[in-house]
Amino acid sequence: MSILSSQIPDKQIEPKLELYDQLASQLSSLLAGESDLIANAANFSSLIFHSLPDLNWAGFYFARDGELVLGPFQGKPACVRIRIGQGVCGTAAAKCATTIVQNVHEFPGHIACDSASNSEIVIPLIKNEEFLGVLDLDSAVLARFDEADAEGLKRLVAILIATLT
Ligand code: SME
Repeated sequence: MSILSSQIPDKQIEPKLELYDQLASQLSSLLAGESDLIANAANFSSLIFHSLPDLNWAGFYFARDGELVLGPFQGKPACVRIRIGQGVCGTAAAKCATTIVQNVHEFPGHIACDSASNSEIVIPLIKNEEFLGVLDLDSAVLARFDEADAEGLKRLVAILIATLT
């Protein structure tokens, strides 16, 4: 990248960063003073589902007895239990790594809860090195999620994690 082009704001990235800045501020206010995981995850899901464009599902799976169990979400009803290592969520959980899938139809073992979903991002929830579960976002738009989303969502997840005692 040339020096000149590096000074030009990236039209793709810049508005997303601003949006995540706003969401971080809204989420901090929304969760302030509350430490209940279910309540905070429910408000988190609602905020992002209604604020981020082109989502058809946003919510949580929590680690329970060695598998993932459905938590608060917005969108169509979803599968309740996912084995670690299964699907996009279970793969992200097994690796404890943020996972972006541009086309879920090309992801081996993808679990289709909503047939409208075409792309997906999963962010692990980790507090004090303990794996608590994942945040999962789906979109009907192919390649909806990028590194800017990953970074923005990790910031939001850190706000949620910080509320837990
Ligand atoms: N697609 C996910 C399952 C959860 S739903 O998208 C809500 C997966 O493959 O793990």
